[in-house]
Amino acid sequence: MSMDDINEVIRNRRSVFPVQYNEKAVSKAFIKTLLENANHAPTHRLTQPWRFKVLQGDAKDRLGVFLSDTYTDITVNEDFSPFKHKKIKGKCTSASAIIIICMQRDPKERIPEWEEVASTAMAVQNMWLTCTANDIGCYWSSPKLIEYMGDFFDFEEGERCLGIFYLGNYDKVEERVSKRDPIEDKVQWL
Ligand SMILES: Cc1cc2nc3c(=O)[nH]c(=O)nc-3n(C[C@H](O)[C@H](O)[C@H](O)COP(=O)(O)O)c2cc1C
Repeated sequence: MSMDDINEVIRNRRSVFPVQYNEKAVSKAFIKTLLENANHAPTHRLTQPWRFKVLQGDAKDRLGVFLSDTYTDITVNEDFSPFKHKKIKGKCTSASAIIIICMQRDPKERIPEWEEVASTAMAVQNMWLTCTANDIGCYWSSPKLIEYMGDFFDFEEGERCLGIFYLGNYDKVEERVSKRDPIEDKVQWL
């Protein structure tokens, strides 16, 4: 791979939201490649904390119903937005697949938890870059609702949800530019 290739994938990676997805399905073979690439993330003490739950078809729509119902349950009347309720459900139906991002805490707690969160995030970045390189839209969503994921899935002891990774094909209209302050403002050279 050339330097230009890797620069392009990293710098062109964007959040692509379910509302932008088209009807074309993301294949199971591609999802398996994503997961395989996730599995190559760096991991201190090889705890390999990333865990994923892949939802397609009915399962994905059931998650949409669960999340929107949970939103209703946890929202006080005056804050309830029918628009938001519909949007939560719609994201699940619009996505071709959903990967629930989870982290399994090392049972012996041999490393700090933040390292396992970081490692899981690196696994997600591997999936995100793989999507970019293949023109598949995706993004990591972390709504408050993820705190209730344990009511939908049977989590292992020490496993928790860090987010929802939505996936779908999309019609590229124009490249969204990366909004970042200059790296020079964030680096000290010594
Ligand atoms: C850990 C994490 C959680 C995120 N959660 C959300 C979210 O809940 N809602 C959202 O719109 N975007 C979420 N994002 C995506 C960011 O909004 C997005 O990365 C940022 O706007 C920069 O855009 P870009 O990804 O296209 O460069 C999340 C990103 C990360 C890394």
